Amino acid sequence: MVLVFPDQPVSDEALLAFGRHFGELEVFHQDIIRSKRLPEIFRVSNVDEDGNLMAPNDPVQHQISLARRWHTDSSYREKPSVGSLLHGVEVTEEGGETMFANMAAVLRALPADLRREVEGRRARHDFENLHRLKPLKPLTDEERARMPPVWQPMVRRHPETGQASLYISPIYNDAVEGMDPQGAAALVERLEAFIDDERFIYRHRWRPHDVLLWDNRCTTHRVTPYNPAHRRIMHRTTIAGRDRVEAA
Ligand code: OGA
Ligand code: MN
Repeated sequence: MVLVFPDQPVSDEALLAFGRHFGELEVFHQDIIRSKRLPEIFRVSNVDEDGNLMAPNDPVQHQISLARRWHTDSSYREKPSVGSLLHGVEVTEEGGETMFANMAAVLRALPADLRREVEGRRARHDFENLHRLKPLKPLTDEERARMPPVWQPMVRRHPETGQASLYISPIYNDAVEGMDPQGAAALVERLEAFIDDERFIYRHRWRPHDVLLWDNRCTTHRVTPYNPAHRRIMHRTTIAGRDRVEAA
């Protein structure tokens, strides 16, 4: 579900060329985070493209810090990403570890009552939910129109392995089918807490120029906190989805 390629000091162009072997690459729909030089590069970074450290209260840093909670990349798209490639260009010595959870294992381990709640149900994924969590740079009407909320099955089938996994993205989930808002939020919170168990998790401690490739169809990930005064530059490219998510 997660591949680690250590010691790959690749250019952005080489990262994109590698990514293109797996499909088309997403272009982020906001004019922040996306590289000005190469739009298929998504900059998970506290250093801007001119090399300046950004202030911790910069709205872009608020947005990036939401990745401290479990999520799957671009689950708010009608056809979510199949996988992401992340290059650690400058990494922190402490913190800033990326944790990946095996969502097939999470599903298998769910207590029966929780399993019943998610099976056959859909959750809504709304990019704009991020704006309800933190003060971010407001979306333009055009950006909002490009990413309307989508309903995704909470238990999905992997199109290649056939394996079922739990599919939630708590930072984007703002509604659950057939539940009132409080019930939906409580369910997502319970699931989010359940994921947080070492038995499901691979924790990556970054060394400079590690490149990771992960499958967004059966994992979630999150990053651990780090000192915002320390430079961290991660360049991601995101392999676009070709199909809608299939329920399992
Ligand atoms: C990402 C992401 C976590 C990190 O690139 O999609 O969530 O470790 N990154 O920076
Ligand atoms: Mn992510």
